[in-house]
Amino acid sequence: MRPTYAEIDLGAIRHNVAVFKDLLAPSELCVVVKADAYGHGDAPVAEAAMDSGASSLAVALLEEGIRLREAEIETPIIVLSEPDPRDAIEVAKWGLTPTVYTPGFVDALAETGVGFDLHVKVDTGMHRVGVAPSGLGELMSTIGDNPNLRVAALWTHFPVADEDADFTRRQIQLFEDTIDGYDVPMVHLANTAGAVLFPEARRSLARVGLGTYGLHPNDETRSVIELRPAMRIVSHVSHIQRLGAGSRPSYGRIRALSHDSTVATVPIGYADGYPRRLSQEGTALIGGEPYPLAGTVTMDQIVVDVGDADVGVGDEVVLLGRQGDSEISADDWARALGTISYEIVCGIGPRVPRRYVE
Ligand SMILES: Cc1ncc(COP(=O)(O)O)c(C=O)c1O
Repeated sequence: MRPTYAEIDLGAIRHNVAVFKDLLAPSELCVVVKADAYGHGDAPVAEAAMDSGASSLAVALLEEGIRLREAEIETPIIVLSEPDPRDAIEVAKWGLTPTVYTPGFVDALAETGVGFDLHVKVDTGMHRVGVAPSGLGELMSTIGDNPNLRVAALWTHFPVADEDADFTRRQIQLFEDTIDGYDVPMVHLANTAGAVLFPEARRSLARVGLGTYGLHPNDETRSVIELRPAMRIVSHVSHIQRLGAGSRPSYGRIRALSHDSTVATVPIGYADGYPRRLSQEGTALIGGEPYPLAGTVTMDQIVVDVGDADVGVGDEVVLLGRQGDSEISADDWARALGTISYEIVCGIGPRVPRRYVE
């Protein structure tokens, strides 16, 4: 089989979960495992997270919650957005915890005749989904009219906890003012940056995604907690050529080798989530040394300029993560691509098998 895989270090996941458990105590930790646990594999991450002290999980989609139930994960699972009201019965069937913010979805849940613990989402500034603070009273009365529905939590979400402390503090204040007077079992606000940087936002629990995977939202969080990245992208040299100065490997012939050089072909490409836009700045670690790409990233393969190094077919190549004393981080990719580390790990495609190590 192709010697390319994503190595997922469950020991790192456990370590990161324990770090957040300690940071948050006595508040609880909800680990966000949407998007296949940010590309790390939802069921194995969920199991490691629960073993290490998380008390609940969160997903974006009903389908993601169902996948976890099918994998026999029995923990509480919060669905972070309302699904289609026609699927309300599925929420009940799979024992998921729904987020609500519209009367239409509240009615759909009520019509199932099943009892639900609801997490009501208030929009304090993200402006993606949620009930506006001015609409909370009416929504709470609609819920209160249904004996099968109980509000288990009020919550909100931060758009810039890693970038704008003033805005985030104003959101926290608005949220606290909005929920004042409602007696609910749980209140939650914080994502990773919120949990680390705003102790007053920890409340009943924090919903931690990025940090679980050992990634930091910014440098400030890096100075507070020590996390371990959980994903390495590993491949092996599949072909070696010695090429003369002036050769232009790969599609587009975008760059000429400045010297005679050894070029290693590595079987990973943009169909795997190794972005074509790394053709200029991408590097690969071989024998603990970083080497530049020698040309355009193709769908299934890249070419690496290893100069005069003694590299052979079968040698390990690390595209993301640590090898020896060198490391290529998701933040390095993100900087080169003008994006964030979230998109990097989520972008590693299903063609790359996940291999779990402890
Ligand atoms: C509603 C909600 N809560 C929590 C999170 C987790 O955020 P982070 O990965 O920054 O911890 C997300 C992820 O985007 C989210 O959408």
